[in-house]
Amino acid sequence: MHKAILGVAATVALTMSGVASAATISIACGSVGQEYEVCKQGAEAWAKQNGHTIRMVSVPADANEQLTFFQQLLSAGSEDLDVVRIDVIWTGLLAQHLVDLKPQVPDAELGQFFKPLVQNNTVEGKLVALPWFTDAGLLYYRKDLLEKYKQQVPTTWQELATVAKTVTEGEHKAGNTRLVGVVFQAKAAESLTCNALEWIDSFGGGTIVDEAGKVTINNPKAIEALTFMASLVGTVAPKGVLNYSEEESRGVFQSGQAVFMRNWPYAWALANAKDSPVKDKVGVTALPKGGPEGKHTGTLGGWQLSVSKYSKNQEAAIGLAKYLTGAEEQKRRALVASFNPTRPGLYQDAEVLKANPFFATLQNTFTQAVARPSKVTRGKYSKLSSEFRNAVHSTLSGRGSAEKNLKALEGKLNGLSRNGKW
Ligand code: GLC
Repeated sequence: MHKAILGVAATVALTMSGVASAATISIACGSVGQEYEVCKQGAEAWAKQNGHTIRMVSVPADANEQLTFFQQLLSAGSEDLDVVRIDVIWTGLLAQHLVDLKPQVPDAELGQFFKPLVQNNTVEGKLVALPWFTDAGLLYYRKDLLEKYKQQVPTTWQELATVAKTVTEGEHKAGNTRLVGVVFQAKAAESLTCNALEWIDSFGGGTIVDEAGKVTINNPKAIEALTFMASLVGTVAPKGVLNYSEEESRGVFQSGQAVFMRNWPYAWALANAKDSPVKDKVGVTALPKGGPEGKHTGTLGGWQLSVSKYSKNQEAAIGLAKYLTGAEEQKRRALVASFNPTRPGLYQDAEVLKANPFFATLQNTFTQAVARPSKVTRGKYSKLSSEFRNAVHSTLSGRGSAEKNLKALEGKLNGLSRNGKW
């Protein structure tokens, strides 16, 4: 009896001293590679420190399907989501459902994140998400195989095709018949939009729609880029790439069956994991240029954490989002899973750089990554992206030439935007 009274008194004292009462906070984490596990560990560490419980919400792996899932839940005002992980291209699409975090994060703290990411997450003056990790497309290659065949790391896509042929022909003769030249993500999903934007930008063919909203996709450089990449499918790249997302490509590369792979930074930690067949055999560099006149580029990706307006536990949810995007947790995530921090300070951290040397060597790739045209196309970005990747997928599959498909795409996008007025 005495003990019970003491217990009640302690609870009252805690509540009065401003400590929020125990809550169950639901969070939607990603599921590509180690994302789910690493997110869960971080969220549970926070919950333990603060006397809360975590509920993990499962979401579809595909970015686009995830968006539809969130749009449905949020539009219905569902209380089932507290912390939502959102893609760099979704801030405008979901802003109306998200809590303004500006009053919760002092300017000095906000100043420790990359400015362009904070700007990207600011919609009509409201900070709708905190940057969690950033992404850019990278080229992974087999150091050991390039050395064996005395090949240089390619700097153009054309060179990549030649090197890939030399290495695969040599290996096939030696009995390693399953080896393919290159894998990337050409399934008709958001990942193809990212890959194809890289090809086109690397050839100097623009960004589908320019900053003023004008549809620029039907141009000779974009046609050249897609024609060239289509010529690789079924020769240097297996036909299977037409069905590959990130994880299918990583599966092939990590099991030692590809010379090159395009993927995001998360693949680094996994390729070098203890049980990885290619551990210590992998190099990583900027994606190739589209010919000597082209440029190295990578699509800007990355994820943010936001809090749903319909959450019944906003205070705790904000605490969780701040903890996960905090310096200590971002460092842990960089060390265990090579997630690129969104805080420039961590790119000076010796341990982070030791685990991920490419964070330093590929700084330009990360700071100058090419953005998908989500800002200018606003609510119509998803539609644009799906029209774009369908046209690219058709071209890669041999259903129509790049000329024909990009001309048709131009017409569709002009219709969608009423000639560039998105
Ligand atoms: C990565 C990127 C994200 C992109 C997605 C496509 O997760 O960070 O921005 O939309 O890949 O699959």
